[in-house]
Amino acid sequence: MAGDVRPETGGQRGVIVSVFSSKGGTGKTTLTTNLAAAIADRSSKDTAVLDLELELGDVHAHFGQEAKLTVQDLVDLGKLTEREEILAAGSRFGEHLWGYGAIAEPGLPQISGESIGKVLRALRGMFAFTVIDASASYADHAVASFDVSEVVFLITALDIVAVRHLSIALRTLLSLGVPQERFRVILNRADSKVGLDVTEVERVMRIKVDAGIPSSRLVPTALNNGQPVYLHDPRSPVAKSFTALADRVIALGEPLAARAQRSRAQRSQKSGFRRKR
Ligand SMILES: Nc1ncnc2c1ncn2[C@@H]1O[C@H](COP(=O)(O)OP(=O)(O)OP(=O)(O)O)[C@@H](O)[C@H]1O
Ligand SMILES: [Mg+2]
Repeated sequence: MAGDVRPETGGQRGVIVSVFSSKGGTGKTTLTTNLAAAIADRSSKDTAVLDLELELGDVHAHFGQEAKLTVQDLVDLGKLTEREEILAAGSRFGEHLWGYGAIAEPGLPQISGESIGKVLRALRGMFAFTVIDASASYADHAVASFDVSEVVFLITALDIVAVRHLSIALRTLLSLGVPQERFRVILNRADSKVGLDVTEVERVMRIKVDAGIPSSRLVPTALNNGQPVYLHDPRSPVAKSFTALADRVIALGEPLAARAQRSRAQRSQKSGFRRKR
């Protein structure tokens, strides 16, 4: 769980955030990829993007690449302990950014919650930040990703059907035991004048909207050029909305890193005491 601060195999305990949407086409992968690119760029720390849309993931396409792992390779990441092995299994998206996703295969891929938990712990031990394009299902592997996430971003468009879907998803996730304080609602194309405003979204969702992403034709243009808009048009207002979110995720990492360092120091002090005796 997110409260557990034991360092992982790689010696650190990074921050995991998930991006979830219950309705297709709302901008889930756009938020995942831009957030990851912005976090890697602004923190200069190793960052991973994990695509848990196993059936037909889009994360790689947003970086102009193709996924190279089978679902089994993805599960086997959980067995890796060496930094070099984990980095080699990933796709290089940037100086500090690696991507993990499965090649689309026929049939419904099934991964247990336990296996995905191991993968997430392996990534958390190696990467300061992991951003997950979470599966839109409530399959075990999807729910397992929320268990280890510090924050779950719920993204919705400004249309009443999408908001109602997300509201039901929020109730479902709460009933599955994901704590309310972990959720952040993000409104995509927040500036669209479509007769629905933030107050209405907050009334239906019964939760505050945390941030908005403006609508911009630069988003699909960047995608068609094989880059998230944050990298393609860094000075655009839409890129800046991802910067603001990324800085908040980076800030989450600071207390965790300090706690992990303190517990490492305490452990080495204890082993020092043992050696002295
Ligand atoms: N803020 C935005 N402004 C303009 N276009 C956007 C914006 N956000 C997303 N889009 C466009 O909407 C489309 C869907 O976005 P995206 O692929 O991120 O959605 P998704 O929720 O991951 O969809 P899927 O259900 O297919 O996985 C893409 O063409 C993307 O470029
Ligand atoms: Mg997607």
